[in-house]
Amino acid sequence: MTNSVRATIDLEKAGSKINSAIYGHFAEHLGRCIYEGIWVGEDSPIPNKKGLRTDVLTALKELQIPVLRWPGGCFADEYHWKDGIGPREKRRKMVNTHWGGTVETNQFGTHEFMLLCEEIGAAPYINGNVGSGEVLEMQEWVEYLTASEGSPLADQRAKNGRAEPWDLPYFGVGNESWGCGGHMRPEYYADLYRRYQTYVRKYGDKPIYKIACGANVDDYNWTEVLMKQAAAYMDGLTLHYYTVPSTWQNKGAATGFSEQEWDETIQKALHMDELIIKHSAIMDEYDPEKRVGLIVDEWGTWYDVEPGTNPGFLFQQNSIRDALVAGVTLNIFNHHADRVHMANLAQTINVLQSIVLTEGDKMLKTPTYHVFDLYKVHQGGRVLPIELIGEGLHLSASSDPLGKTHISVCNLSQWEPVSLELAINGEADSVQWQATILTGDRRDAHNTFEQPDRVSPKPFTDFKVENNQLIAAMPPMSVAVFSLL
Ligand code: AHR
Repeated sequence: MTNSVRATIDLEKAGSKINSAIYGHFAEHLGRCIYEGIWVGEDSPIPNKKGLRTDVLTALKELQIPVLRWPGGCFADEYHWKDGIGPREKRRKMVNTHWGGTVETNQFGTHEFMLLCEEIGAAPYINGNVGSGEVLEMQEWVEYLTASEGSPLADQRAKNGRAEPWDLPYFGVGNESWGCGGHMRPEYYADLYRRYQTYVRKYGDKPIYKIACGANVDDYNWTEVLMKQAAAYMDGLTLHYYTVPSTWQNKGAATGFSEQEWDETIQKALHMDELIIKHSAIMDEYDPEKRVGLIVDEWGTWYDVEPGTNPGFLFQQNSIRDALVAGVTLNIFNHHADRVHMANLAQTINVLQSIVLTEGDKMLKTPTYHVFDLYKVHQGGRVLPIELIGEGLHLSASSDPLGKTHISVCNLSQWEPVSLELAINGEADSVQWQATILTGDRRDAHNTFEQPDRVSPKPFTDFKVENNQLIAAMPPMSVAVFSLL
């Protein structure tokens, strides 16, 4: 017998606004994310706009990426921004010690990143260097980016081709300061955070949202100490959580994995909910108004690298399983829209749970890309509470600024179709429905350069409206979005 799930949505109970930034992304100087994936240089035979590959620009723009985090990650705490400005042929090189020991040429620096954000319409989120950088260096970066004519650094920026100051909506003060960013204790970092953020000055007239480094997974003590000692000085506090199917030593493969690995991966993705609930409870003690955002600025699947690739490059395929991880995680973020103000999937191109893969001049959109594309209707909407009876489906719903309702539905099972019976204020009969679905023909179905559209969204029509309910047969391994027209 087919499992069934009954869901009831009350349109009168729209809750918190879903900050669009929950649908954000992250691009680090790591492997082939920036170089090859985004930046090919102006002289490349690969079509580009001022060095940024045009196929990727188009794909990212279509996705309406609200915010993009850069330059790391672990790389952020060894990045010295002055090396990445001025004539490219004169830029200082360095070794990227975290990621493969490659030589970083600094061809992609501040101007190139800000241009990328402008081209794709994303807000920049820059992560400053606390681990190996000085306070003055951080202060000067902010001045260089945002000060108007007359400031020495603004004049230098103008000489480098940009007279107008940029908007800098988000700035992070250190990354993983408990680990690759300096191996600090929370008490020590809290003090450093207070000091460094003081010099993240407002040179322009727009505020800068200051983000403190938060916890690794379930390190609740870190959240407690940071909130207690520094909440007044921050707008956001981060959380990092990766979905690793097995262990960090032996994570499991991105494709060709077992039935059990599917289940473990989905269970681990669902763990995000508990982490947010528990970190939020601590934050609530110090910030009951929920002014400080929980910023999940690194999340996603992390598998063993593809055979034969550089272990330091974190290159992995992306299958329908990743689509389910993305679907349930974004549903969870929607549910916690009151506290989760931003999230950034790691990482945009050719690294970890990518939305785009490239090979030479070829590019493909991964199943994860398609989930973000389907879910973009939730950006800026108000979250709608859902009452659920039954198991096997994972849902979230929102009402968009034009009053349209959108419901995202994930069937987590590899094998079982699940029947969905959905009631919406008893209005199902009187409205028109439209749905799109992403599914796969096997549990590791994925796109390749030979078959780039094997996993791609299709119109979904396997539903009917009866007795004021929508009744849909949700196929196994699927992510669907229903919209009321
Ligand atoms: O996203 C890859 C790495 O994971 C980041 O550089 C780091 O912050 C985290 O440990």
